[in-house]
Amino acid sequence: MDVYEAVASRRAVRGFTGQPVPREALERVLSAAARSPSGSNIQPWNTYVVTGGLLDELKTRAVERVAHGDPWDEREYQMYPPALKSPYDERRSAFGKERYSALGIAREDWEARQRAAIANWNCFGAPAALFCYIDHDLGVAQWADVGMYLQTIMLLLRAEGLHSCPQMAWSQVRETVAEVLSPPDGLILFCGMSIGYEDPAVKYVRTGRAPLDETVTFVDDESSGLRKVEHSARAESGRFR
Ligand SMILES: Cc1cc2nc3c(=O)[nH]c(=O)nc-3n(C[C@H](O)[C@H](O)[C@H](O)COP(=O)(O)O)c2cc1C
Repeated sequence: MDVYEAVASRRAVRGFTGQPVPREALERVLSAAARSPSGSNIQPWNTYVVTGGLLDELKTRAVERVAHGDPWDEREYQMYPPALKSPYDERRSAFGKERYSALGIAREDWEARQRAAIANWNCFGAPAALFCYIDHDLGVAQWADVGMYLQTIMLLLRAEGLHSCPQMAWSQVRETVAEVLSPPDGLILFCGMSIGYEDPAVKYVRTGRAPLDETVTFVDDESSGLRKVEHSARAESGRFR
């Protein structure tokens, strides 16, 4: 699988078969992903991979807790700003529409949306998951490093025939995760990631993307008028020769 194929076929999969994920595949992926870049090569990721009975235990505890309506754990970081401005707010709404229409859930059907959300803590049926922590003392640049690392993992999983879903939802029950994983003090749970083989029977709508010219600006001689400036500067300097 080439890189373009890996990027194009990666998506947040929310339906996995129970087929176990070979430990060797996870080791290959995580060893290769360790080559991800990070500022000054500080490698600010702390990853826990969980499978088997321990993952079952974690899923059960988390799902029970959420189904019971327990409050979320106190936030350690802000998932989104309280008022998401344009164009991000519109993009988030579009995503919500896509997601719930794929599930056949009406926008106002709050209960059905809650039921769908609970699947997060069952890892959408996946038999493997990772939990990625970052040191409390690190800053935004290191969080960006962690993002690159996680994307590298997700692309490498594609090369192994595996799929994934990154999940900030796990940060909302971080204390339950900590009960099972016992991470050292001072680490913040950024997200979990469900990992496994896709269940082709689960319907989904492929998410869209903003047109390229909304998010990318090519700055070249033509667009910046630089050529014109250079020409006139040369003409100017010619005058004084
Ligand atoms: C950091 C991060 C956290 C996410 N958290 C969740 C989550 O908790 N639950 C979920 O179902 N999807 C989650 N997603 C998946 C996004 O909704 C998804 O990546 C986005 O809608 C784009 O769709 P695609 O990944 O299928 O292309 C998360 C993605 C990222 C990058």
